[in-house]
Formats: sequence, structure tokens, C-alpha cells
Amino acid sequence: MTTSHNRVAVLHGVNFDVLDRRDPEIYGGLSLSELEHKISDWAHEFGLEPIFFQTNGEGEFCEYLHRSIDLADSIIVNAGAWTHYSRAIADALELTRLPAVEVHLSDVEARDDWRKLSVFDGLVIAKIAGKGPDGYREALEMLATKLEVTP
Ligand code: DQA
Repeated sequence: MTTSHNRVAVLHGVNFDVLDRRDPEIYGGLSLSELEHKISDWAHEFGLEPIFFQTNGEGEFCEYLHRSIDLADSIIVNAGAWTHYSRAIADALELTRLPAVEVHLSDVEARDDWRKLSVFDGLVIAKIAGKGPDGYREALEMLATKLEVTP
């Protein structure tokens, strides 16, 4: 059942529109719509209502975060490479004041040094990386608990 406090905005950043064309060894080879399907099924299992957004435009990503205050009760953010340097996106996330979980498909800690830094440090309730799509399931479960949503 949809209630007014169970909405989760799932935001994907730059290069996620071509997820299925990125290195399958790192990203698993699935398309963004396949990933969103899985997330949607899991969200409903937990009693959450997902809203999806993807853009390759940093400003547009910030603007969507501005609107998230009215659209959502919680956020899952995978900003791709922006994660590692976009203070603008971090500021936009901060002003939502919504509970947020940062997810990465790959193990960002085990890759290039520059991927170890996240602008979302201190702004998110958790960072989940290296678990592939299952990381989103974990994030959804955390947010359902946080929002006190039951299926
Ligand atoms: C990513 C990790 C980032 O370092 C990278 O730039 C991406 C994807 C992930 O989901 O593993 O675009 O966020």
C-alpha cells in the first residue's frame, strides 16, 4: 500500500544511461532499466515506492535533488564519478535533509585512489559498495527501517 512517507528517490548520475555498455567485469553488464526493475521489485517487497531519475547533467542532478524535498521521503544516490568531486551535488543533497544511502555497484575502495573519496561522507546514513545490484536491496531495507515502513 502506498502511504505518504514511503517514497524513495533512486538517483543515478553520469554514464548510468549506458550501464550495459560499461565494463561487465566491473559493473555486471546489466542495463539501467534491468537494474531499476530489480530495485522496483525489492522496494515493493519492503513497502517502499520508488521514483527513478538519471541524467548526465550535473546541474540537472542538483535541480532534481532540489525537487526531491517534495517528491520523496528518502534517497538512494549513485552519482557515478560525480561522487568523487562534485561539491555542488553534495550541497544539493544536504539541503534535502532526507535520509539518504550512497550505493556503488563496484568496490570503490578497491579501485583507483581517487574513487576512495566521496563528497557524501557525513551526509548519508550508509555507504554500500561492491555488492552489485544487491547493494540497492540493502539500502532499501535500511531506508524502510529508518522510515518505519512495513510491507
Ligand atoms: C560507480 C563507481 C564510480 O567510481 C564510477 O565513476 C561510476 C560507477 C559504481 O556504481 O560502482 O560511474 O558509482
